[in-house]
Order: sequence, then structure tokens, then C-alpha cells
Amino acid sequence: MTRRPTSTPWTPDSWRSRPAAQQPVWPDEGELKRVHAQLAGLPPLVFAGEARHLTRALGQAAEGRAFVLQAGDCAESFSEFSADAIRDKLKVILQMAVVLTYGSGVPVVKVGRIAGQFAKPRSSPTEQVGDQVIESFRGHMVNDDLPERSARVPDPNRLVAAYQQSVSTLNLLRAFTKGGFADLSQVHAWNQQFVASSAEGQQFEDIAEGIDRALRFMAACGINLTAEDSLHEVDFWTSHEALILDYEEALTRRDSLTEEWYDCSAHMLWVGERTRQLDGAHCEFLSGINNPIGSKIGPSATADDVIDLCERLNPQRVPGRLTLITRFGVDAIDRALPPLLRAVRDQGHPVVWVCDPMHGNTFTAEGGQKTRRFDDIIGELKGFFRAHQSEGTWPGGVHVELTGDDVTECLGGVEDIVEGQLHQRYTTTCDPRLNARQALDLAFGVAELLRS
Ligand code: PEP
Ligand code: CO
Repeated sequence: MTRRPTSTPWTPDSWRSRPAAQQPVWPDEGELKRVHAQLAGLPPLVFAGEARHLTRALGQAAEGRAFVLQAGDCAESFSEFSADAIRDKLKVILQMAVVLTYGSGVPVVKVGRIAGQFAKPRSSPTEQVGDQVIESFRGHMVNDDLPERSARVPDPNRLVAAYQQSVSTLNLLRAFTKGGFADLSQVHAWNQQFVASSAEGQQFEDIAEGIDRALRFMAACGINLTAEDSLHEVDFWTSHEALILDYEEALTRRDSLTEEWYDCSAHMLWVGERTRQLDGAHCEFLSGINNPIGSKIGPSATADDVIDLCERLNPQRVPGRLTLITRFGVDAIDRALPPLLRAVRDQGHPVVWVCDPMHGNTFTAEGGQKTRRFDDIIGELKGFFRAHQSEGTWPGGVHVELTGDDVTECLGGVEDIVEGQLHQRYTTTCDPRLNARQALDLAFGVAELLRS
């Protein structure tokens, strides 16, 4: 493995001397440079102190004293952008978080795939549309999803549009999470509606009833449920895949308090399964920013690969610095995960183990839509908990793709969506997401796994 010689220190642009996978070929370099300069002059989205706060919260999860819920769109969209959509997505994440807090008995660290999740790695740079071969869609930060040649030409002005949409999304999230929308009693009331409204939901009645009793108990002890800040405000963090490095570099700033570098495009950044090469540009970039960072880990990763990644991305072994997000698929998890847990545990690397039960379970349905089976998703989660139980490690969290909208993108779940229904409300521009009911169903299922 090559290490960076000590004579070449990290800089926000040191990634440029490494091979960078999955970068768009921008048609006009001059335009890209102009946009880069513009972004570099715009205010940061987050403050370095917040990123440090999140590292500490994730450090608790690395040590078995917190649980992480990372959730949101596969790809945020420029066209499906509204206050209602942001509210509904936040609402379902908050509902899941309450259930998971009860199930785990520890604080839940809430991290959205939101306010910056606009770029997608693709397995092929082109796709066939009719008799034409056109460039693949790479997320609204890069090009448009319309299946037409001209729509797929990368446009650097989209980087600025993504920044601006992130600013307004984050602004509303901050308002909702600090302004009363996240009130625990309210979120619990929404969950009770879910439990009461379907036969399937009723299997979770004792969890909902347990939360209810806990709230009554607190009130009986004299805790004023409406006056207590911690019961109606929550910390909500943003994250996205740090894919388009021109964008991430332009938003990387030196913290005036510590002089350290932070990528101020989000609180947490991760590197994807297709861009986690140890000597590649993405790991180089993440290695030097001081935000909490993550890496996806797929079924091809060996124990040595994962240890090398830990050394590369968290050589100081700071708890909370590194989250490993495994995405094996239901058929591979029992075989693939335990050796990695053992290796990382034996080497003493403090990582947060998070299960992404989505990306290893994708397939194409007869009608041509990408989809996932709810049962496979739950199956992978069960394997995740089994592996941690057998290795004596802490199952640190879950990472899911969801929306607050009533979409028909994943099969099964409470409403038992079948293949013939996928086309009804299939609005994702990339991977299939859980709808609100499926997401809650998953949270109750995970709460049961945590309790047992
Ligand atoms: C994603 O999280 O949307 C994604 C592309 O994941 P992965 O890198 O694990 O394939
Ligand atoms: Co995805």
C-alpha cells in the first residue's frame, strides 16, 4: 500500500494528484473554474464546532452508548423540492428515532442523507435509451435525469444550484428541529396513529404502549414534558456521499478556532463503495478533513482492506471519526460481516458499525424498475444483529433510503406492494426508497431486534 510521503502534506486539493473515480467530464473547464471560485466565496453550510459535536455523538455509538439512524433520499432532486417534502421526510425520521431510542435504550444520533445528497456514482458511464447510447444520470448536482442526450451533459452551474438547495433545506431542518416540530409527545402521537391504523402496525402495540408508559412516568415524576428542551428539540445532522470533489473542495474551510480543515458542505461525509480505493482521490480528500466520515463496505472487502481503510482514514483512532457502513445483501451478510468485525475488534480500531440493508439487495423487476424486497432488507438487518451478537461487538446503527412520500418503489412491507404496483408511484431518480409506512415498519422491527 502506498502512503503519502510526509513531504507532501494534505491540502484541500491534494486529491487532484490521485486517480478520481466517478467524476463527470465537464465540457468547459473554464466554466468549472469560475463556479469553483464562486462556491469558495460562499458561506459554509455548517460550522466546524457542529461537526466536532457530531464526532463526539458518534464516538458514543462506537463505544456502544448510542445508536445511529442515517436516513434520507438516495438522490435528492431539484424537481421534487418543497417544504412539505422536507417536513414529511424529517417527520418519518423523527418517528423512527423515537422507536429506536426506546428499543435501544440509548440516545439515537439522527443523521439525514439530506441537504447535499445530489451526486450519484454509476456502475456504467453510459446507458442505452432506445437506439441511442447516452451519458448516465449522475445526480442533479451534475446533470438532469431526463433520458435525452442534451439533458445528460454535465453543467457546473448545477453545483451552485445544489449548494443553494442545500442551504434552504438545512435552514428549514434547523427551524423544524429547534422550533417545536420535533416535540416528543407529538412524534409519539404520530407513531400511535401508525400502530392503530393497520393490522400489521398492531404487532408493535407493546412498543408504542411502553413509550406511552415512559412518558406518563416522566410526567408523574414532575417532569414538565412541554417545558423540557430535550423533549421538544433534537439535534439533526446532515450527511452525503462526498463524490464530486470539486464541490467538496470548494466548501472546505479552515476553522478559525482550531485552524483545522473541515468540509463545511455537511456535518458528515462518506465515501461510496465505488470510490473507496485507498490510494484514490476520495480517500485522500476525506483523510484530511476533520469532519466525522464514513465508508461504505461491500461484499468484496477483505478484513485486510477494512483494516487498511481504518489506518488510512482514522490513524489517530478517534472514536466517532470513522463509521463503516456495510452493504452486503441478505445472502452475503452472514459470511462477510463476522470476519470484518473480528479483525477490527482485534486491531482495536474504534469504528461505528452501521448496516445499510438497501444497496446489497437491489434488483430489476420485470417492469424494468430497480427495486428491493422489504423482507430482504429486514433479513440483512437480522444478519447484522446476529453477527454483532456472536462477535460481542455493538451494532451501531442503520442507514436507509427513504422518503416521507407514499411511493411504491420497494416491494412488500405493511401494504404488501407487489411488482405490478411499482409503476404507480415510482418517483425516485435513482435507487428505490422505503415509503413512510415501510420505514416505520422497519424501525419497529429494528427496535424489536435491539430489545432482544
Ligand atoms: C448510495 O448510498 O446511494 C450508494 C450509491 O451506495 P454504495 O456506494 O454503497 O453503492
Ligand atoms: Co442509493
